[in-house]
Amino acid sequence: METIGIFYGSTYGMTEKSAEKIKKAFGNAKVDLYNLKDATVVDIAKYNNLVFGTSAWGIGEMQDDWEMTIDHLTEIDFTGRKVALFGLGDQKEYPESFVDGLGTLYCRLPDKSCVVGSWPVEGYEYYFSLADKDGTFLGLVLDDHNQADLSDKRISDWVKQLKKEFI
Ligand SMILES: Cc1cc2nc3c(=O)[nH]c(=O)nc-3n(C[C@H](O)[C@H](O)[C@H](O)COP(=O)(O)O)c2cc1C
Repeated sequence: METIGIFYGSTYGMTEKSAEKIKKAFGNAKVDLYNLKDATVVDIAKYNNLVFGTSAWGIGEMQDDWEMTIDHLTEIDFTGRKVALFGLGDQKEYPESFVDGLGTLYCRLPDKSCVVGSWPVEGYEYYFSLADKDGTFLGLVLDDHNQADLSDKRISDWVKQLKKEFI
């Protein structure tokens, strides 16, 4: 498998912690981890296998560092690349906008045909989520506020899936 670049935006470190676990779950594969606040679009362009992570804020908002970066993604030709998304949220406090950051990140990607790593909605409780597309999440969904005990298994199952979907 080609080298994987993981890029995450994280305000209080929860998405960062998950990104580190995702890296570890890839085992022997070569994985580079970037906090988006220290990365540029040139860094993102180095990888054919990409993982993007964000938490959810406000009304459908991504984590702030994505807001600064997302429009620059048009500078990258995504042909032949694979992009997997993961999002963190809190289904108890924000059941009407659960992991919306993940949904917004997907919506604003310049090329959606390269997105892999969809994830079942079963096992979560919410009224509405921008990340739920026709009954499937657009990427891995983690809720370390209410379901922290499920996160490790979710990450390991998702990474197994990505190992098949990545280049
Ligand atoms: C002001 C505020 C707004 C939030 N809005 C949402 C939201 O709309 N949907 C959601 O699922 N989680 C929401 N959250 C929860 C965060 O996404 C969650 O705490 C996440 O784990 C933070 O990750 P981070 O520390 O990596 O940024 C919100 C949290 C705060 C403090």
